Amino acid sequence: MTPGRPIQAYDFMTRILQISDPHILPEGQLFQGSLDTAAALRRLLRGLASLLPRIAPVDRIVVSGDLTETGCPAAYAHFSKLMQDSPLPWLAVPGNHDSRTAMRAAFAARDWMPAQGPVNWRQDLPGLTLLGLDTLVEGAAHGALSADSCDWLAEQLGSLNGRPALLFLHHPPMDTGIQAMNEIGLRTPGRLAELLRAHSGPLQIGCGHIHRVCHSTFAAHPAITAPGVSHSIVLDPDGRSSLSWAPGGTGAILHSFDGRFRADLITPADFGPPTPFA
Ligand SMILES: [Fe+2]
Repeated sequence: MTPGRPIQAYDFMTRILQISDPHILPEGQLFQGSLDTAAALRRLLRGLASLLPRIAPVDRIVVSGDLTETGCPAAYAHFSKLMQDSPLPWLAVPGNHDSRTAMRAAFAARDWMPAQGPVNWRQDLPGLTLLGLDTLVEGAAHGALSADSCDWLAEQLGSLNGRPALLFLHHPPMDTGIQAMNEIGLRTPGRLAELLRAHSGPLQIGCGHIHRVCHSTFAAHPAITAPGVSHSIVLDPDGRSSLSWAPGGTGAILHSFDGRFRADLITPADFGPPTPFA
């Protein structure tokens, strides 16, 4: 696609649903001893399935990290079982609560899972390329990009040839307005900024980690974080709050591209029958 090309001349409408941070535990366990994250994922998938006829065509679901709370094989087995109800093929990048080894073992048969190294992947859909970028630093809450991941991304961006791209990574590279989350965001995002600033094609960034919507820009590209599946991180308007969570504030992001990007927030309010104005 060339810059300035009229929207109506674009040949494809491509939509992607982004869900984030389901924090699934082994069956029978609750998040923080009180929250049933599995039930929340079931509800969200059921709601999205019911909405599909109204938002179709949607090509994929992308899970932007923290698939599990514990990173253990039993949690991935539980996540896999729950995702059998996904109404669409899905892909995922790891978050800080994930384990690369356990995640790879659980999803080794999926076409997007690399056999080794960082869990970076690319899917070329009609009219849109999806890029998944692994920011996991095993055992740490913050994220970082390895030299391998930077090289991989440079290669992908270099071969897009104007194709629009959605870039998914768990850790937001930008200021999210929540100081405690910024401290565990993407460390040393300079190399990523360099690569993206040099990329002039249409590209939107989708992140997770903060369990709420923050719309911003990074390296001249639009960037958005997705809400969580079961709970949100509490807002920190004065920059001094301690890190807290609250149940709710859940949903998904519907990314659309029809010549330009749009990101719509979907919440459980969208799953019920609409009430027309009297
Ligand atoms: Fe999370």
